[in-house]
Amino acid sequence: MNILLIGSGGREHAIAASIAKSEQCDKLFIAPGNAGTTACGTNVNMKVDDFDTIGKFVIDNDIKMVVIGPEAPLVGGIADYFAEKEYLKNVAVIGPTAKGAQLEGSKDFAKMFMQRHNIPTAAYKTFTKETLKEGQKYLSTLKAPYVLKADGLAAGKGVLIIDNLKEAKQALKEMLADAKFGDASSRVVIEEYLSGIELSVFVLTDGKHYKILPSAKDYKRIGEGDTGLNTGGMGSVSPVSFADKAFMQKVEHNIVMPTIKGLQKEGITYKGFIFLGLMAVNGDDGTLNPYVIEYNVRMGDPETESVFPRIKSDVVDLFKGVWDGTLNLCTLDIDDRVAACVMLTAEGYPESYNKGDVISGVDEIKDSLVFHAGTKLNSTNKLVTNGGRVLCVTTLAESLPAALHKSLQSAESIKWKGRYYRHDIGQDLLKIGIN
Ligand code: AMP
Ligand code: GLY
Repeated sequence: MNILLIGSGGREHAIAASIAKSEQCDKLFIAPGNAGTTACGTNVNMKVDDFDTIGKFVIDNDIKMVVIGPEAPLVGGIADYFAEKEYLKNVAVIGPTAKGAQLEGSKDFAKMFMQRHNIPTAAYKTFTKETLKEGQKYLSTLKAPYVLKADGLAAGKGVLIIDNLKEAKQALKEMLADAKFGDASSRVVIEEYLSGIELSVFVLTDGKHYKILPSAKDYKRIGEGDTGLNTGGMGSVSPVSFADKAFMQKVEHNIVMPTIKGLQKEGITYKGFIFLGLMAVNGDDGTLNPYVIEYNVRMGDPETESVFPRIKSDVVDLFKGVWDGTLNLCTLDIDDRVAACVMLTAEGYPESYNKGDVISGVDEIKDSLVFHAGTKLNSTNKLVTNGGRVLCVTTLAESLPAALHKSLQSAESIKWKGRYYRHDIGQDLLKIGIN
């Protein structure tokens, strides 16, 4: 079977590497891909939101399965586009319809969905420009810190956490009345602050059955000790030590099952990944309880780079099960080893950074996987930087310290001018024990 994967990041390189291993995959195309994905298949220069061009390419190349990496084409309705076209409707699209993608595309939709289906999440209210005054009053009833979320997609920047009430009221005004995040902040969700430890849990579903993939934790800030500006993610580890059997049972019963049932009940076609951004909050009984901070309708990046290498089963088999509605008949084998991923970034990221710097040392890496994100081959066929997050190294090992040690060693031996990485990925988990 010929397969097309949409996207160009480290997440897509990791997914491409797993797809390419499947005996069921004849040709793999990645659109647009990066320098790393050329080792797994053929890059095709198409925009992820150009559905007409993608549809034509699918027909011309006898593609039977399209796997969607990023959220934008899903929120934009790529699954619906395929379903509505007679000549594309039998192509397996791994990713939800636009309605399902609203779980990520609209925070307000996600909060209402959770409320309707009794899924644990922070208390909240939604406000618009017309109800700005009420919103400011609502803030006065809450305790600091204040959590303000732009309703729509805002490139990961739409969430503000503010300690001071006056500043929170001002920020609400800027979001609603001054369109701080454009259209995305025409509605703003204000929610209760949850104190705990964050983690990500990934679910693959055919809309009825589901498989829970390994948990992971990502490290969002640029600086060591999780300080400084937010980034797309500076590293990840999988599994998460505190997400033990008892905790994961709560995740399954309180969150995964009602989410899938809720989607079914509301007639939402959902064939793809659900990414649960969770906060583990200490309960009165001393055990940890999971709350949903956010839904995403795709895999995480860089969580995929530590989750996918642990999936031993044929992922194309799983994707076929997703499309056919027979995911219950598939097996999901997970590697027991721990994965640690360290992201290497360009100097200056997440603010302005240079592109085109020559990268060395990648070919010499042994015992770690290298996933490319912002890379390309220049006109003289040299590997150069082409983004803020440039590439990451993932190591599988028997313990978290061993995986981290090797990944840091590998990260150190990949070089370009100004290359940066965090040395403290996973250290918080080591401090709280286990692993
Ligand atoms: P989101 O885009 O909704 O995942 O929010 C971005 C980040 O803000 C999350 O990863 C959390 O670190 C933080 N956050 C969001 N909502 C809350 C909340 N209710 N309480 C505490 N932290 C939150
Ligand atoms: N690593 C967080 C995300 O992919 O949204």
